[in-house]
Amino acid sequence: MRSEVIRMASAEPSVNFNLLHRTCKLVVLLCFLHISVTVFFYVRSLDIRVAFVQNQQTRNGTAEAHPPLDAKEAEQAEDEQAGKSLKKCPETSPLLVGPLRVEFNIPVSLDTVRKENTGVRPGGRYKPDDCVALQKVAIVIPFRKRDEHLKFWLYYLHPILQRQQLDYGVYVINQDGDEIFNRAKLLNVGYVEAMKEYDYECFVFSDVDLIPMDDRNIYKCFSQPRHLSVSMDKFGFRLPYNQYFGGVSSMMKEQYLSINGFPNNYWGWGGEDDDIYNRLAYKGMTISRPSGEVGKCRMIRHERDKQNEPNPQRFDRISHTRQTMYKDGINYLSYKLVSKETLALYTKITVDIGKP
Ligand SMILES: *[C@@H]1O[C@H](CO)[C@@H](O)[C@H](O)[C@H]1NC(C)=O
Repeated sequence: MRSEVIRMASAEPSVNFNLLHRTCKLVVLLCFLHISVTVFFYVRSLDIRVAFVQNQQTRNGTAEAHPPLDAKEAEQAEDEQAGKSLKKCPETSPLLVGPLRVEFNIPVSLDTVRKENTGVRPGGRYKPDDCVALQKVAIVIPFRKRDEHLKFWLYYLHPILQRQQLDYGVYVINQDGDEIFNRAKLLNVGYVEAMKEYDYECFVFSDVDLIPMDDRNIYKCFSQPRHLSVSMDKFGFRLPYNQYFGGVSSMMKEQYLSINGFPNNYWGWGGEDDDIYNRLAYKGMTISRPSGEVGKCRMIRHERDKQNEPNPQRFDRISHTRQTMYKDGINYLSYKLVSKETLALYTKITVDIGKP
């Protein structure tokens, strides 16, 4: 009896103290949360770029273990679904077959490719005849002296693109002369030249030596810029680093224009794809990717081309994308058109893009 009374008497202040203690804890916790959130956004807005540039440099130089590819099938809802009176092609083409066998041992002849692709019109143009394609796609390939690769590309890609039911055209942008190669500038030229021919709404930028191993990797555009060559045999079927945007990519016309196109001053190998990634990131865009399975592709093995040595200025350049992107791009593109040939399987555009 007595002990109970005592306990109760001493209980009161202890409850108050507990309450005070908890309140304090809560306040401290809230302060901490507030500071963390503030710091998080601050760091995100300022430092991520710097961190990224360093990250790229280390990753490109070392043989560190690459993180496994965790690309999501970011299948975005289609941008346009304008219900026109004409019958649209279905969202997913019924003609797709999935994984493909891709080999480069047996050379192919353009003659065979022509015979096997009678639906392709001059200039490498095609559109399905039983439905209206969802997108008009220009495929732009920067090129110089890689005719063997181009044959394989045409041999594999034309059938795939037709099964994907795209309204497409193939534009091979050939750098004239023997000056040092400039991939990104050739891509800009491809954009301009393709737009002269047709009202393209989507652009696929592809290296000539990359062949997809699955036709479900659709060569079209998405609500975010798309990176298509996500698991290349060259990199052990993994993404070499998260910001990697080289090889094959696609962009809607508006996405391309919003970043002022691509840089014109990356002469030689490397960095221009990272500059493009930076432009997209600064514009608040994210990269859409197919799954590692669907995104498998093969690169045709080759020696490094002459006049395409690694560009020593590339690291410095990609650390200044933010300052340069509105001065250097599609707005200040200058080149001389040397010739335009409408060939059976592609349009070959030869240009003089100058020198560094
Ligand atoms: C890093 O390597 C990738 C893959 O080979 C390449 O596409 C990119 O241009 C390189 N970046 C630099 C800065 O060298």
